[in-house]
Amino acid sequence: MNVMRDTLLRVIRRRETEYQNRPGQDKWRLRFHIMPPAGWLNDPNGLCFYRGKYHFFFQYSPFDPEGGLKVWGEYTGTDLVHWQYEGTPLLPDSPWDCHGVYSGCAFTEDGLLDIFYTGNVKLDGDYDYVNSGREANTIYTCSEDGIHFREKECLLEMKDYPTGYTNHIRDPKVWKAGDTCYMVLGGRKKDNRGAVLLYASKDKKHWEFVREVTTREPFGYMWECPDAFCLDGQWLLSVSPQGLKREEFCRQNIYQSGYFILPEKWMEEGEPKEFREWDMGFDFYAPQTFRDEKGRRILVGWAGLPDIKEEYNNPTVEQGWQHAFTIPRELKWKNGKVYQYPVKEAEMLREKELFSSSRQDRDPEKTQGILVEDSCFDWEIKETDSRSFIIIIEEECVLKYEDGVFFLSFEGAMGAGRKVRKALVPKLYSIRILADTSLMEIYLNEGEYVFTSRYYTESDVRQLSVRGLQNAGNIWTMKKQTCLTGL
Ligand code: FRU
Repeated sequence: MNVMRDTLLRVIRRRETEYQNRPGQDKWRLRFHIMPPAGWLNDPNGLCFYRGKYHFFFQYSPFDPEGGLKVWGEYTGTDLVHWQYEGTPLLPDSPWDCHGVYSGCAFTEDGLLDIFYTGNVKLDGDYDYVNSGREANTIYTCSEDGIHFREKECLLEMKDYPTGYTNHIRDPKVWKAGDTCYMVLGGRKKDNRGAVLLYASKDKKHWEFVREVTTREPFGYMWECPDAFCLDGQWLLSVSPQGLKREEFCRQNIYQSGYFILPEKWMEEGEPKEFREWDMGFDFYAPQTFRDEKGRRILVGWAGLPDIKEEYNNPTVEQGWQHAFTIPRELKWKNGKVYQYPVKEAEMLREKELFSSSRQDRDPEKTQGILVEDSCFDWEIKETDSRSFIIIIEEECVLKYEDGVFFLSFEGAMGAGRKVRKALVPKLYSIRILADTSLMEIYLNEGEYVFTSRYYTESDVRQLSVRGLQNAGNIWTMKKQTCLTGL
C-alpha cells in the first residue's frame, strides 16, 4: 500500500465531492467544454485514442482554483464531445515527481498506453539561470486499460540532459517513425533562449540526444509544450514560447503558442521558420495534438493562461474552479498555413435551429436583433463578403471587422478586466461562434484565424445584434445536458 497515494486520493475525492455538492448556482459552469471537476486545470496531456476510446488527461490541481500541486486528471469518451471523468491516475507519489506530475504525452502501441511526462522536484536554489533549484525528470509509465498505471520509471534526469541548459526542461512528446521513437522536450538555455531537444530511442526506454532545434535568432527565453508532427506532408513544430514582446496585432497575451514550419530534414539539420500563433484570443496556451483512429490530426488547447492577475480577475475562482479545454479542433494544411476547425462531432451538440440564412436575407445597414433563449449557441455565417460589420453579444462583447482588422473587445464586467484582442485579417469570408456559458471560440475563414476567450455575463439568454452583414447565417441552441459525467 502506498500511504502517500491513498492520502492524496482521499483528499482529492473529498475536495471534488465538496465542490460538486456545494450549494447555489454556478452559472458559468461549462456545458460542453472540458473543465476541472474542482479547482484548477491547465495543459491537455496524453491525448490519444486507445482501445475504442479517446483519453484526454489534464494538468489538474484540485486543491485550489488558483493552482498548486499538479496531478493528472482524466476524461474518456467515444465521440470527442461527451466525456466521462475517470479520476486522477497519476499522482506525485515518487521521488522523481513529488512536487508535481507535469505535462507529457501518450503513445499507443502493442496493446499498451504509454505515458511520458515530466516529474517536477523542487530544490533550494535559482532554477531560472543555473542547474539548481529544480529537477525535471522524464518519466515513463504504462497502462493496459488506460486508467490504472504501472510502476513509474525515470528515463532521464538532470545529469542526462545536454550542457548549456537551465533546469527548465520539460513536456515530452513522443512519436514513432519506422523502427525509431522520437521525443521532443522543451527547454530554456543558460543564455536565456528557448529551444527544443530532440531525442531518439529504439526501445522507448533508452534515449539518445540527437540535436537541439531552435531558431537562428533568439525567440523567447523558454519553449514549453513542444509537439512535432507532419500534417498533410508538411512537418510542423508547435511550441509555447515565453518572453516574446507584445505587438499590436499579434503576441498580445503574456505567453504565446504557435507553430513553426520545419524543413524536410529537420531531424538532422535546419531551423524552424515562420512562427504563426495558433489563436488570437485572450485564453489559449499549451496545446497538444494527436492523430485519431480516423487519421485526423486533432488539436486541443488550454483555454486559459498563466499569471495575468493584474489584467484579469477570473470570477469562476470564487465558484471554486478555473480554466477549461478548447473543443477538439481538426487541423488541415492549406495555403501554407494550418486551418483549425471544431471536429465534425461538435455538430451533435446542436439542438434547435433558430433561423437559417435563407429566411433572413436582409438590409445590411439595419441592425438586426436576435434573441437566443439559451446561454449556449453555435452560430455560422458563411460567404460574407462584407468589408465591415459588427456583432454584439449581450451588449458588452463586440466583434468588429473594419479596414482588414478583426477585433474582439469587451466593455464592462463581461471581460473581467480584459479589453481587446485584434488580428490583421485581409479577407473575411466566414465566421463561426461556438459559445458555451462562459467560453466562446470564434473561427474566421473556417479556422484560418481563431479567437478563444472566456466571457462572463449574469444573463442566461443571449441577446445578439448584427449590422453590416447581408445574411446573418444559421444559429442553433445547444443541447441542455452537460457533456461531462462521472463527476
Ligand atoms: C505549461 C506548463 C508546462 C508544465 C505544466 C505544469 O502550462 O508550465 O510547461 O509542464 O504547465 O503544470
